[in-house]
Amino acid sequence: MPKFNDVNLADWKNSEIWTDSLWIIKERDKTGKHSNFYHGNFVPQIPRQLILRYTKKNDVVFDPFIGGGTTLFEAEMLNRNCIGVDIQPGLTQQIKSKITSKNNFFELITGNSASEKTFEKIQEFLKKHRRKHVQLAILHPPYADIIKFSEHKEDLSNAVSLKDFLDKFSKVVKNTLTILEKDRYIAVVIGDKYAKGRWIPLNFYCINEMMKLGLVLKSVVIKNMEGNRAKLNKEAIWRYRALNSDYYIFKHEYILIFKYE
Ligand SMILES: C[S@@+](CC[C@H](N)C(=O)[O-])C[C@H]1O[C@@H](n2cnc3c(N)ncnc32)[C@H](O)[C@@H]1O
Repeated sequence: MPKFNDVNLADWKNSEIWTDSLWIIKERDKTGKHSNFYHGNFVPQIPRQLILRYTKKNDVVFDPFIGGGTTLFEAEMLNRNCIGVDIQPGLTQQIKSKITSKNNFFELITGNSASEKTFEKIQEFLKKHRRKHVQLAILHPPYADIIKFSEHKEDLSNAVSLKDFLDKFSKVVKNTLTILEKDRYIAVVIGDKYAKGRWIPLNFYCINEMMKLGLVLKSVVIKNMEGNRAKLNKEAIWRYRALNSDYYIFKHEYILIFKYE
């Protein structure tokens, strides 16, 4: 058994863990606590697969961009502990009130994940629970300015330029490495964007930032993107515009998996 998960290799044929680099997810999992209330959330299958693949029961999962709490609800279901941060006030209480686990801890902080101060608080939480590290980090940052999440100037969706976005993103990763256990994993879920008629490969720039921090790229997973609310009922107009121009319509996003060696 790999030492970073609970996969039962004796029963590998029945494992629910996906090992291909292409994830076609037909439908969002709407079971359990996943109410899909949060615009800009990811499908629960993403954190589920990452948690099953890269953690053991009672490990600690860290999410510096909790949004609607998808990662937390999956962590709870899979008996993992979770620490999460979001810059939007109000979100953390809302999510925490839905957590009912008695066996694992869930600590949520309203704050800026690019700030070292936030990580001082996280260190305190870890100490309180007699832990030194988290074992998996799942980062689902804003895809630059595609969706504006808040008015906060430190919100990554309010970055004033690509450079500003990448600087802030890099700070979040750097901070995360202060709490991530060595030989464990950090995953980033990100999509690309168009600006002024150009494809801006955010995934490529984020890979570059992470490699600059010494992280080892293990996999690039491509996931289909369907039924994006922003595009809902607009499929026809997008297709017409694409045919009338020279670009393709986004139908995929990326899950980047790095090891902290
Ligand atoms: C793409 S959403 C995450 C969605 C989440 N994975 C889910 O399934 O609901 C990005 C989140 O990052 C938060 N955010 C943006 N900048 C931040 C920062 N500097 N520190 C902490 N959270 C931030 C936003 O408020 C937003 O909720």
